[in-house]
Amino acid sequence: MASLKAAYPWIKLPLVASAPMLGASTPRLAAAVTNAGGVGFLPGGSNAGTLDRLLQEVKTILGSTSGTGLQSRPGILPIGVGFQLFNSTQSLDSIAAVIKKYVPAVVWLFAPKENVDLQQWSKRIRSETENKTHIWIQVANQAEAMESIKLANPDLLILQGADAGGHGRRQAASLISLVPEVLDSLQEAGKEDIFVLAAGGIVEPRAAAAALALGASGIVMGTRFLVAEEAGIAQGWKQALLRTKDGGVATVRSTLCDRIKETRPEWPVEYDGRQLRNKGHDDEDAGMPEMENIKRYKEEMKKASDVNAWENDGRMVAYSGTGVGLIKNIQPAASIVEEILRGVRPVLERSATALEHEGKQSNL
Ligand SMILES: Cc1cc2nc3c(=O)[nH]c(=O)nc-3n(C[C@H](O)[C@H](O)[C@H](O)COP(=O)(O)O)c2cc1C
Repeated sequence: MASLKAAYPWIKLPLVASAPMLGASTPRLAAAVTNAGGVGFLPGGSNAGTLDRLLQEVKTILGSTSGTGLQSRPGILPIGVGFQLFNSTQSLDSIAAVIKKYVPAVVWLFAPKENVDLQQWSKRIRSETENKTHIWIQVANQAEAMESIKLANPDLLILQGADAGGHGRRQAASLISLVPEVLDSLQEAGKEDIFVLAAGGIVEPRAAAAALALGASGIVMGTRFLVAEEAGIAQGWKQALLRTKDGGVATVRSTLCDRIKETRPEWPVEYDGRQLRNKGHDDEDAGMPEMENIKRYKEEMKKASDVNAWENDGRMVAYSGTGVGLIKNIQPAASIVEEILRGVRPVLERSATALEHEGKQSNL
């Protein structure tokens, strides 16, 4: 099996990646994650001009900071770019030209309208960059994983469990069953060389260690990086994440986030989004007509810079995974990466020691 370090020489292990999150994953955030030994991602969006500007900004930041892998794979920008294919497909030509110009280490594909789009995108990206840009695909079930492999032969799969913040498949298992089942399927198909990362609900070292114990080679975090100093979201959203406890209750999977923003028709029907539960959900449950809910959301949007709009009785869409209750403070992205890198091994060692100790006790 090839090693992750050979593919991404600047990384530290286990691999920690920041999710591509529109509006949240700024060039500063992505560069900070890469500089700390992870893989930072930018959201690709659907506008080639914007993508060009974001990549140029990341390049400038990485070029002016030390400790990056800029030299470790010459000619490659040690950063990833993520695309939600269902709303990017029309712009493949112009986006491919930008990818060719910057040669990011990774292009991440998610949520195709038709599975065959994975084939078209991966082929095009690989040919534009002479295979220098690797393809990662985010999937949420066994069948989707195997279909993606058949169509696009990705270098890596991100397995997105049901606890994930933001958009994901409405029907999904948690990582605890998803990761081992997909790994078994990869082995049966003779595809053990495809790396696997776990995403969904992971915000600290214990969950990262659990993902490794399940067989993943690393993790992706979205929600945890929303509270990074460099994340480009509203302060009210950050504060809401910090004060929220009990993510299984405080967050909800629903299509309301898209209906209320009037973007639902664009999303493939299999997807919804996990966000903090708020007044919009309460009103919907109480029977408020959708048009009225949308109207009230639009009014509240005018106050998005006001932290109160992000209270539980507010209406703003604050995407969040179920790990939110474990997030304690706003800090630089580098220190989030370092916390995971430092924290995983002691967790695994503690478990091994506890098992050994218990074994000795019961043999007495
Ligand atoms: C605010 C937000 C925006 C996201 N946007 C994207 C996106 O544009 N593309 C994508 O592939 N995944 C996106 N995701 C999902 C992440 O890729 C990932 O699966 C998720 O964040 C993992 O769960 P966690 O948030 O509990 O860490 C987003 C997640 C969040 C929280």
